[in-house]
Amino acid sequence: MDLPRLHFAHLPTAIEELPRLTKYLSGPRILVKRDDQTGLAFGGNKTRKLEFLVAEALDQGAKMLITAGALQSNHCRQTAAAAARFGLNCILVLNGQMPAQPSANLLLDEMFGAEIVTVADRAYREQTLQETFDKASVAGRRPYLVPYGGSSPTGALGYAFAVEEIMKQNVRVDWMVFGTSSGGTHAGLVLGQRVFGFKGKVLGISIDESEDWLKTRVSQLASDASEKLGNRIEFTREDVLANEDYCRAGYGVLTDAEREAVRLFAKYEGLLLDPVYTGRAAAGMIDLIRKGFFKQDEAILFWHTGGQPALFADKYANKI
Ligand SMILES: Cc1ncc(COP(=O)(O)O)c(C=O)c1O
Repeated sequence: MDLPRLHFAHLPTAIEELPRLTKYLSGPRILVKRDDQTGLAFGGNKTRKLEFLVAEALDQGAKMLITAGALQSNHCRQTAAAAARFGLNCILVLNGQMPAQPSANLLLDEMFGAEIVTVADRAYREQTLQETFDKASVAGRRPYLVPYGGSSPTGALGYAFAVEEIMKQNVRVDWMVFGTSSGGTHAGLVLGQRVFGFKGKVLGISIDESEDWLKTRVSQLASDASEKLGNRIEFTREDVLANEDYCRAGYGVLTDAEREAVRLFAKYEGLLLDPVYTGRAAAGMIDLIRKGFFKQDEAILFWHTGGQPALFADKYANKI
């Protein structure tokens, strides 16, 4: 298949053993896939998606990327960096109140030259995103709409090919565990599992959505993404494993569970997680290990999907 794709991610990302954390948890073997080191503006999972999304934008003759997220969105930071890298303009629609002194991801967005539009409430974000896009189109600025989280069928392809990468790295794991939110990473992994023959299980720990929503969303997205590979596969809700037990506190709310996970990874492995996504996903994984959910002789691959700049956001820094 001749899929438009740029190549700026630092791939393959490393797979590392976490022996001290494994021992501390008396648990199954834990490995980490270092997608925090994908190489675009501090890395993270959006780099793989953006290789396909920016290629599509350029193919369509776009001169601007427009996307949306929370004030401390990693997706927006990486999209703004990709726009800078390829000489495109960028508008970010962010929900939240602009602080007097921007920090962390928000500070980086400004450094990459993104124009920022804020909306007070997440509920109005999609509408404002569409209005911003329409205005830019009418003004002849040739925008390309990067959907929330980069989670379109095109973006999801990045994680389908990530499974091919792992298969070539030749490590035997029984589970892939990661944080899931807008569903693109999850859909890509589910698609890649099927296409590249990964025999283990793919379990998304929800950051902010219900299991019911994720099953529908991810199966749909994986089916639509498969079409881009030339052969539509009809995924069903049963093909999607998701756990909603760890997101009840709400998006970006740090509880003792996330705090413990971030601190355990730091203390036992010298590895930094982020407070919102990987911190929550790791908290879920740790709890499942303690409950005996995984078999003792199984191996878990934890996807480090990035997000560490948020550690330095005023909002989280004093709570971690
Ligand atoms: C660090 C990090 N991990 C995981 C995710 C979730 O990925 P997805 O939106 O593809 O479900 C995000 C989304 O923004 C993220 O920033």
